[in-house]
Amino acid sequence: MAKSTVEDIEVKGKRTLLRVDFNVPLDKDTGAITDDSRIRAALPTITYLMEHGARVILCSHLGRPKGKVVEDLRMAPIASRLSELIGLPVGTTGDCIGEEVDKKARDLEDGEILMLENLRFHPEEEANDADFAKKLAELADLYVNDAFGTAHRAHASTVGVARHLPAVAGFLMARELEVMGRLLHEPERPFACLMGGAKVSDKIGLLQSMLTRGDMVLIGGGMAATFLKAQGYEVGRSLVEEDRLSLAGELLRKAEAQQVAIWLPIDAVVAEEIKAGAPTRVVPITGVPSHGQIVDIGPDSVELFQSKLAGCRTVMWNGPMGINEIPEFARGTRSLVSFLAATEATTVIGGGSSAEGVHDMGLTDRMTHVSTGGGASLRFLEGAVLPGVDVLLDKE
Ligand code: 3PG
Repeated sequence: MAKSTVEDIEVKGKRTLLRVDFNVPLDKDTGAITDDSRIRAALPTITYLMEHGARVILCSHLGRPKGKVVEDLRMAPIASRLSELIGLPVGTTGDCIGEEVDKKARDLEDGEILMLENLRFHPEEEANDADFAKKLAELADLYVNDAFGTAHRAHASTVGVARHLPAVAGFLMARELEVMGRLLHEPERPFACLMGGAKVSDKIGLLQSMLTRGDMVLIGGGMAATFLKAQGYEVGRSLVEEDRLSLAGELLRKAEAQQVAIWLPIDAVVAEEIKAGAPTRVVPITGVPSHGQIVDIGPDSVELFQSKLAGCRTVMWNGPMGINEIPEFARGTRSLVSFLAATEATTVIGGGSSAEGVHDMGLTDRMTHVSTGGGASLRFLEGAVLPGVDVLLDKE
């Protein structure tokens, strides 16, 4: 069932608590925002509310301060960035609840905007504490959730607060639900899932979901080593989750029974050390040396994966094909991302590091949809009901 959105509710003159996910990556040394796409993605909702006379009270978490004030995780730099983007002042507060916040929220005029301090400076946020949720709710007349990236968390600002206020989705939330929902329930076929990342254990739910919904699954990244080993290949010193070997074998058998094709790498880039500049060589998958580690898929695998994806109408990508932190080991991923950017198929990119990779390559606009949710998109595509979505009003 689709959710009501800001367009289904009168916002003029209403103090509107807008939950966004401005948990953006920050430079370790300078604290500068290294990717502001989550802020940009919320702009349609923010500007809609301001232009329609709402009094906007933005709230978000930033990082994992574990219930304490952490100076480096204050929201002020995020408010400045937002202010630059909308060309208007964005007020800030020293906390997210309390007298100062109450007053500033009360003093807002129609079309003005205020950003509360990091919600996670209070342990009550992640505990979904009822009193804390009530205090947040008392700041506003209505609640809008545009924080798809945090919708898998049942926190005070994503769930508790919705018990006290009319609760609707913002445009970003609605778009994420629409695109991902289509992927789950009515993808144009053939539908392929290109999957990577370090561990099988992180992606079991997604794999199981794709084996019932997809037509093919292509597996690269560190997790491929566990599947390869389960098929009897030697993978040298590559990271293998020994405790997942039998599950990997089971998933391969299940795929066969359900006639979902699983494609694994047929060659690999191997290195003896995981560091920039380490000597590498390309070997067939039958020839991984005992002292080598797989650090990327090889060129034949890229070609094989591209030939399989070329026949698909929908492709979902989640997780790198190699150890992408080291540029020489990111070639497989980059080739496939470029390929996806050029295809006519519907392309949906999972959030987190996959989304960052696409942004870094400047190819965001060439994809059908790049999710702003890492964990959230994973949970959603596993078929889970996200608590932050569940509490929003259904569309009439
Ligand atoms: C994310 O970056 O995935 C979201 O902001 C959620 O953050 P969390 O994993 O710290 O809850």
